[in-house]
Amino acid sequence: MTLQLGQSTPFARGGNRLCFVHPDHADRCVKVRRPDFTLEDLRRKKGFPKNLRPLSSFDDNLEEFRVMADIDRRVGEEAYTLVSRCFGFEDTDMGRGLTSELIRDADQGISHTLKQVIWDHGYSDDLRAAVARFGTAWSRLGMPSRDLLVHNLLVQRGADGEILRLVAIDGLGSASALPEGWRTLRSRQARSARKVANLHERIATLLAARERGEFPGTHGLLMHDGRPATAEQPTKDQLPEERQT
Ligand SMILES: Nc1ncnc2c1ncn2[C@@H]1O[C@H](COP(=O)(O)OP(=O)(O)O)[C@@H](O)[C@H]1O
Ligand SMILES: [Mg+2]
Repeated sequence: MTLQLGQSTPFARGGNRLCFVHPDHADRCVKVRRPDFTLEDLRRKKGFPKNLRPLSSFDDNLEEFRVMADIDRRVGEEAYTLVSRCFGFEDTDMGRGLTSELIRDADQGISHTLKQVIWDHGYSDDLRAAVARFGTAWSRLGMPSRDLLVHNLLVQRGADGEILRLVAIDGLGSASALPEGWRTLRSRQARSARKVANLHERIATLLAARERGEFPGTHGLLMHDGRPATAEQPTKDQLPEERQT
């Protein structure tokens, strides 16, 4: 059956996709292509020679689905302590949607991004420890990712507001043309460790901007908290405009 999303408010918007709470499963999200930034727009923006590639090669949902299947095969159950589970595609009134585990805190609010948590609360000791745990496991398992961006990592909290873990929800896969299977585990681990080192640099950059009082932009902020509908939810006209993956 076709899921109806068009009349509801997404809880977040990335550079490429809109994220909705799944209408039939409160613990899943559905990601669809942004209607105001289509695959054709994205391909045009890339310029020559990338714009010669087929449209499907620009499709984040397709790429994420493939990468998640690969992670499931190669890494297995342990991967899901670090990334959200993927449940495959469903048809929606906004095109094909990719469904995945919706990361919520114990109080049922959708978890905030690392970017927002650092911006709101700074880099506390418990957050630092959670980033360290995430980084160690990410490297040990050789998880495949592009750059680990602060708005693509979520900070999940427990019942007392304590930090349970960090979860990556976007940016998985590899920019390299080399198939994953051709790499040794050691080479995958080295690549993941580089991405973790780079994450620490990004955190330092964000903290420096925070020190200077430079607002880092609305990207990575939630549009609503995903709890059952309240009057507080913004209307579509109030959604932030920014675009960035
Ligand atoms: N599984 C999820 N659970 C909770 N929040 C999510 C989940 N996936 C995405 N989000 C939120 O939606 C935002 C945009 O999603 P993302 O997958 O990064 O889209 P894009 O590919 O367009 O960048 C994220 O920054 C995050 O705040
Ligand atoms: Mg993103």
